[in-house]
Amino acid sequence: MDKFEIRGGVSLDGELEISSAKNSVLALLAAAILTDEPVVIHNCPEIGDVYNMLKILEALGCKILRQGRAVVIDSSAADSYEIPRNYGREIRSSIFMLGSILGRFRKAKAVFPGGCDIGLRPIDLHLKGLRELNVKVREQGADILCDASAARGKKIHLDFPSVGATENIMLAAATIKGRTVICNAAKEPEIVCLQDMLNKMGGKVAGAGGDTIEIEGVKKLRGAEITPIPDRIVAGTYVIAAAMTGGRVCLRKCRPSDLTALISKLNGCACDILTAEDSLLVKGYKRPRSVLMVETAPYPGFPTDLQAQVLALQTVSKGTGVIVENIFETRFKHVGELKKMGAEIVVKDRYAIVRGVPKLYGTQVTAHDLRGGAALVLAGLAAEGITTVEDVRHIDRGYFRMEDDLRALGARVKRLS
Ligand code: EPZ
Repeated sequence: MDKFEIRGGVSLDGELEISSAKNSVLALLAAAILTDEPVVIHNCPEIGDVYNMLKILEALGCKILRQGRAVVIDSSAADSYEIPRNYGREIRSSIFMLGSILGRFRKAKAVFPGGCDIGLRPIDLHLKGLRELNVKVREQGADILCDASAARGKKIHLDFPSVGATENIMLAAATIKGRTVICNAAKEPEIVCLQDMLNKMGGKVAGAGGDTIEIEGVKKLRGAEITPIPDRIVAGTYVIAAAMTGGRVCLRKCRPSDLTALISKLNGCACDILTAEDSLLVKGYKRPRSVLMVETAPYPGFPTDLQAQVLALQTVSKGTGVIVENIFETRFKHVGELKKMGAEIVVKDRYAIVRGVPKLYGTQVTAHDLRGGAALVLAGLAAEGITTVEDVRHIDRGYFRMEDDLRALGARVKRLS
């Protein structure tokens, strides 16, 4: 399995273009099966999760064509409503294919997605939402069998603003007769992008970005093309990398307005951040100061997908900080690895208390999940000596050749197979 070898101690310097958002593209790919006309997704990132999602679409009978950085999905010949077991387990986002497959075929079969290293990842809110739409959902062992032949629009209240559950219900309701209202919906920018896509396809969706989304079911959706939003988590990861290495980094084709929680937390404490509409400039300090307290929360709160990275920042900051992970149960797998590098961290339940140290030391560490792996890379950039990050396939799920991005900023990173 591939690993990264990082020789730390370099202040990152330069500029980088941010790729399209993984978590937006996955939902847009799910939407593609709602129509029998071609759908084009521009700037589609070549990352693991996207690759797996394309395999699922092909297994359902869709034709996939890569045209430069665009992907064309032609679902006209799609003839299966069953998500293959192996893929269903492989990636979580396969579960919000349920809604789009139901929207197209009125039937769907999937498997319970496995949990992963950040938590149990239940899908009770997804299934409760579909049942509210009068979808017949039968759980048979690991299988989920759905029948939407009598589905109707309905007002649904989500107990928690789940991103995936919101997307699943939007995708199902787009072509289900009647009006569906999702209360306590997730407000992430990726939800707004999905709304834009559904409307480009002829859907009638409004309210995304707020906590109430209204969907008027339409008979048929047409093909469309879209450029997904930039990846706010990739951008946030590189903001933190610049702050951790005392560097000066300009990120282009990003949306600082999607990163207000991170920017307000770091600006003037860990680094200086100047923003324009689609770019931002990070100027690090000789040594960042403690962030004091970070609590993850649903958007627009501090994103859980940047928790590991800001925890890594805190390990080298002046002072002590507390990181609270409120979204997932076990999203501190990176702590043990950071401690091998000399970090001083105590974890109790959802709390990580981190006392900043002047220096981390390079050593061999292992990535256990996508964002935790990214955090270890950032720590290696700031550490003295050589850090080897094992099992970077986790990182490849959400960052396209991260080593190339970092090398473009002057980092000394090599991928070893
Ligand atoms: C999406 O996951 C993202 N993934 C995650 O990004 C992100 O961390 C998460 O939203 C929160 O922002 C994709 O979009 C593909 P949730 P999702 O449903 O939809 C609980 C990354 O690193 N919950 O908002 O699975 C759940 O256990 C990934 O890019 C239920 O209890 O997240 C968690 O505690 C990681 N029942 C909380 O809600 C349900 O039916 C948030 O989950 C669904 C969720």
